[in-house]
Amino acid sequence: MTYARIAGVGSCLPEKVLTNKDLEGMMDTSDEWIRERTGMKRRHVAGEGETTGSMSLIAAQRALEMAGMAADELDMIVVGTCTPDKIIPATATIVQRELGIKGCPALDVNAACSGFLYGLDYANRYFLTGGAKKALVIGAETLTRIVNWEDRTTAVLFGDGAGAVVLEVSDEPGILATHIHANGEFEELLHTTGGISRGFDASCDRDGFVRMEGNAVFKRAVATFDSIARETVADLDGHLDDIDWFIPHQANMRIIKAAAKKLSMPMERVISTVDEHANTSAASIPLALDLAVREGRIKRGDTLLMAAFGAGFTWGSAMLKF
Ligand code: ACO
Repeated sequence: MTYARIAGVGSCLPEKVLTNKDLEGMMDTSDEWIRERTGMKRRHVAGEGETTGSMSLIAAQRALEMAGMAADELDMIVVGTCTPDKIIPATATIVQRELGIKGCPALDVNAACSGFLYGLDYANRYFLTGGAKKALVIGAETLTRIVNWEDRTTAVLFGDGAGAVVLEVSDEPGILATHIHANGEFEELLHTTGGISRGFDASCDRDGFVRMEGNAVFKRAVATFDSIARETVADLDGHLDDIDWFIPHQANMRIIKAAAKKLSMPMERVISTVDEHANTSAASIPLALDLAVREGRIKRGDTLLMAAFGAGFTWGSAMLKF
């Protein structure tokens, strides 16, 4: 059997850090409220010249280096993002150009916080049908550029960054299963009000900022993490005990803890970076993966379960042997 196996991981975080204390000076909020409600302590914020594309490039170069692979060996590039550098072209094509290669397909996937797992699912299907032998899958965001810094209910929650994996074809088990889903009924619970067909016009005062009904999203996120994790494990006739590490999307520490509890997963087996990175949307899972691999916590042969939930709603999971 042919598998897509992770050959290298990499990430990139902007240099600038905003702590909860910094936010206290910018809006009516407190370090205590943010820590208690979200578990977040600080977040990285893209500075001048730092973009989804530039961070993707650095994450990709680090992942390629770990894989011992040259960029021109890649058969495809997928970038999961809802904050591309420009509407067109796709950020993936910018990454491709900056890697100094051309010819292989390069595209963005917008599934909000589930973007990385959507990208992984997409690339994996190419491996399973013989369409790719080497691929780069990235999750990257500059969400702090689309939050309203006067809206404390959203501004404190997000951060910027990028994470990347290089996949390589293998006879050894790699990606074991992926599942992705969506339900567009809940658009208004988490969205940006402005867009190409809504107020995107030089003559009007458009507002493209993120708006969220936090409470409603919270409840659905917890329930969905549980069901998507169980779906994936059951699909493989496996058990949650088989999982060495659970890497959930890093939206909120309370969501992560509630999901882990429902899955009877001890927190010692959960990778969490929400305290340091806040919610980096599509970047959060590959960022957490890279950190845990480079810290030596995740080792070759470990079984990983990843799960994400985001605007749309979209949700997805992946189970793999690292
Ligand atoms: N500082 C201080 N007070 C605040 C802040 C703040 N930053 N934000 C809100 N409050 C206040 C509210 O105004 C409210 O005050 P009131 O009781 O006087 O009306 C109070 O705190 C409680 O507000 P809630 O919204 O009920 O707080 P909650 O406990 O639900 O926490 C949060 C809010 C953190 C947003 C939570 O609901 C959450 O994490 N939701 C899910 C986020 C998520 O999973 N997103 C999905 C992915 S994101 C993506 O796809 C891009």
